[in-house]
Amino acid sequence: MAIKVGVVGYGTIGKRVADAIAKQDDMSLVGIVARGYDWRYAMAVRRGYSLYAAESARMEEFEEYGIAVKGSFEDLIQESDVIVDCSPKKVGASHKPFYEKYGKKAVFEGGEKHELTGVSFNSSRNFEESWGKQFTRVVSCNTTGIARTVGALHEKLGVKKARVVLIRRHTDPWESHKKGVINTVVPVLKVPSHHAEDSKTVVKDLDINTIAFSTPHNMMHINAAFLEMKSNVEKKDVLSVLEEENRVVFVSGKDKVEALNSVFALARDLDRSRGDLYEVPVWEESISVNGNEVSLIWATPNEANVIPENIDAIRAITQSLPKHKSIEKTDNSLGILKKLY
Ligand SMILES: NC(=O)c1ccc[n+]([C@@H]2O[C@H](COP(=O)([O-])OP(=O)(O)OC[C@H]3O[C@@H](n4cnc5c(N)ncnc54)[C@H](OP(=O)(O)O)[C@@H]3O)[C@@H](O)[C@H]2O)c1
Repeated sequence: MAIKVGVVGYGTIGKRVADAIAKQDDMSLVGIVARGYDWRYAMAVRRGYSLYAAESARMEEFEEYGIAVKGSFEDLIQESDVIVDCSPKKVGASHKPFYEKYGKKAVFEGGEKHELTGVSFNSSRNFEESWGKQFTRVVSCNTTGIARTVGALHEKLGVKKARVVLIRRHTDPWESHKKGVINTVVPVLKVPSHHAEDSKTVVKDLDINTIAFSTPHNMMHINAAFLEMKSNVEKKDVLSVLEEENRVVFVSGKDKVEALNSVFALARDLDRSRGDLYEVPVWEESISVNGNEVSLIWATPNEANVIPENIDAIRAITQSLPKHKSIEKTDNSLGILKKLY
């Protein structure tokens, strides 16, 4: 029996989650929640997705444009086994009482607080913690990047202290006309930034400090880590941990992957929908090792890197497939690679 999944919130993350669910042979997409008519929902209809109205009062708006609405937000909940709530931060939290009312399971996103669900999710680091839970929360794109890179090195080699710098795109391309920063860099003045605490929700005993900045670009984030390891390591060990890690790939300046825009262009050449990159690319030559000190630089493709985790989170809370089988199935369905080129 396929797991029936509804998607609430059809923005950067929601539309990608919906597409990924539609690709799973053990899931069926019940539909998506739409707020009011615009081109994004018209495109969803073209993809064959059923629309459910967030606000009953706005149902007529869709009809005016010749778009049939199948039901309401609460109808979608009742028809689904699991809801993936990709609405903006705090809005997702406000929906939790509805999921409780109908006794349904739900996956929330990284904009919500860990306390909302009491458990957070990263496929490789703590899949089992969400096993059978009613609610879980997929950590943010940056935390997912940290969990896959620093988290893997911590699990396999032992990190004593992690110090991570996050240089973040200020806004996503689809809404960059609405808000942005121009010709400046904005530091997050609270140190550590929230990413440090968030990382510890999935990599439990990591000593981590993070400093974050927003910058006037809109292609992905770029992050750097300085790690003090528990003991001396060799570069080949670091390379081998990252080589073996799911959803981490190497890129190199030798191959002219020299900046975020190169990663962006490379992703589009993969011919995936929207040029999405689910993998976290680590610059091979940035990995420097000196005794017990390791440093590395990676890109965080924020629009897409959490999508495979959302699919695995659905399987974890519904207890439908164990960790390794779920990761393998998700990666095959999305065409996730160990080498991008
Ligand atoms: N963007 C990223 O890079 C990224 C990465 C990882 C995780 N996340 C997390 O993912 C979540 C969603 O972020 P996003 O970037 O995808 O947001 P987004 O692009 O702003 O999309 C949010 C969507 O939710 C809809 N929405 C707003 N209020 C709603 C309501 N009451 N009921 C149903 N739908 C509603 C919006 O519709 P309208 O536009 O019509 O208002 C929009 O379709 C957040 O928790 C965020 O922190 C984001």
